[in-house]
Amino acid sequence: MHLQSNVDLTLANTLRLPCNAEHYAAPSTLSALRAVLAHAHAQGWPVTLLGGGSNVLLPEQLPGLVLRPALNQWWLNHGQVAQQGDVFAHVGAGVNWHRFVMATAARRLWGVENLALIPGSCGAAPVQNIGAYGVELADTLQAVQVMELGTGHCYWLSAQACAFSYRDSIFKGELADSVVITQLVMRLSRVPAPQLHYGDLAARLSATPTPLEVADAVCAIRREKLPDPEVLANAGSFFKNPLVSNEQAAQLLRYYPAMPHFPQGEGQTKLAAGWLIDQCGLKGMQQGAFGVHQHQALVLVHFGGGDRRGLMKTADFIVAQVEERFGVKLEPEPRVVNP
Ligand code: FAD
Ligand code: EPU
Repeated sequence: MHLQSNVDLTLANTLRLPCNAEHYAAPSTLSALRAVLAHAHAQGWPVTLLGGGSNVLLPEQLPGLVLRPALNQWWLNHGQVAQQGDVFAHVGAGVNWHRFVMATAARRLWGVENLALIPGSCGAAPVQNIGAYGVELADTLQAVQVMELGTGHCYWLSAQACAFSYRDSIFKGELADSVVITQLVMRLSRVPAPQLHYGDLAARLSATPTPLEVADAVCAIRREKLPDPEVLANAGSFFKNPLVSNEQAAQLLRYYPAMPHFPQGEGQTKLAAGWLIDQCGLKGMQQGAFGVHQHQALVLVHFGGGDRRGLMKTADFIVAQVEERFGVKLEPEPRVVNP
């Protein structure tokens, strides 16, 4: 078992928030993962799960064990259903999501190409049911293997049991802090199924693109709008797009007819948090070490030298401005990690 102590995680989170872990381990097999969990249990250490650190708000000190699963294998199973064009991908939690997307797209497999360039690990992807360009993980996910933190026992959850919805899953609710995701099974397809309805994706492609062409187009759009965390620290969208009642949306549309709005069924409409923040004149603003990105108002950026408290102050300011103007309360998307 390879345990490290007193580990600086500042570069292990894309917001570059200063954070020190008391203990850290990155086990690369299920048995090593089980052994390190048993050790943490015996020592009475709390366990914090970390992937690529692209959706977390870390505190300055993390007591106990920070666990980063390094299960880095993935393989394709052409098995029994090959005739229908389906191919099952088995993906370890430590595999980099974007590399997995590009590797399957290069093999002419459809299903996750719209989710290119989302940072982080495959193990974290089900936690908020990652989504972009009209596609969510839940559209192709078949099953998730988890290990109980307390017992080391492994079991499988069907996609249905994961209770996926917009930026939400059972891993944020009932199973939060009690299991580690170890493997995903994704159902990909050889049958062309381009999803090009979001934004100007279709305009950038031919009528019959390959999965790799779609992934490349998504990457190009994302690079135009979103800051690269290697250059300017950020966690992608800082707030979720709010769901409001159809009545509230209709009322707002009377005053703001150009407001982007997306009916979701069941009496709810999704609004664009980036538009709401932008309308408050906050795009490009800076408050101490933090600010609102100049090309995408939904992304908060860290210019350096700040900590989580400073970031939350800026976030609270934005929430208050949007609430005052639109009567809509924004909620942060990244996970607040507490010891
Ligand atoms: P972390 O940030 O390390 O962890 C996130 C949460 O998952 C934490 O609560 C952590 O405890 C938990 N977790 C991590 N690994 C495991 C595991 N193996 N088992 C159980 N729990 C675990 N997200 C989108 O949905 N769509 C986007 O388009 C998008 N664009 C982004 C763009 C940028 C520039 C950035 C920085 C982020 C973006 N994100 C987006 C957010 C982020 O990339 C995703 O949420 C991603 O899935 C996080 O992966 P991670 O490995 O970095 O997770
Ligand atoms: N908009 C503005 N000003 C801005 C930003 C956006 O007016 O500063 C408007 C746009 O013009 C558009 C609408 O708001 O009409 C939506 O903008 P965009 O298409 O850029 O997407 P988003 O809603 O801001 C969401 C996800 C992203 C995902 C994109 C693409 C959330 C919280 N965010 O952003 O996910 O990549 O759609 O599908 O759902 C993330 O979760 O970290 C993330 C980056």
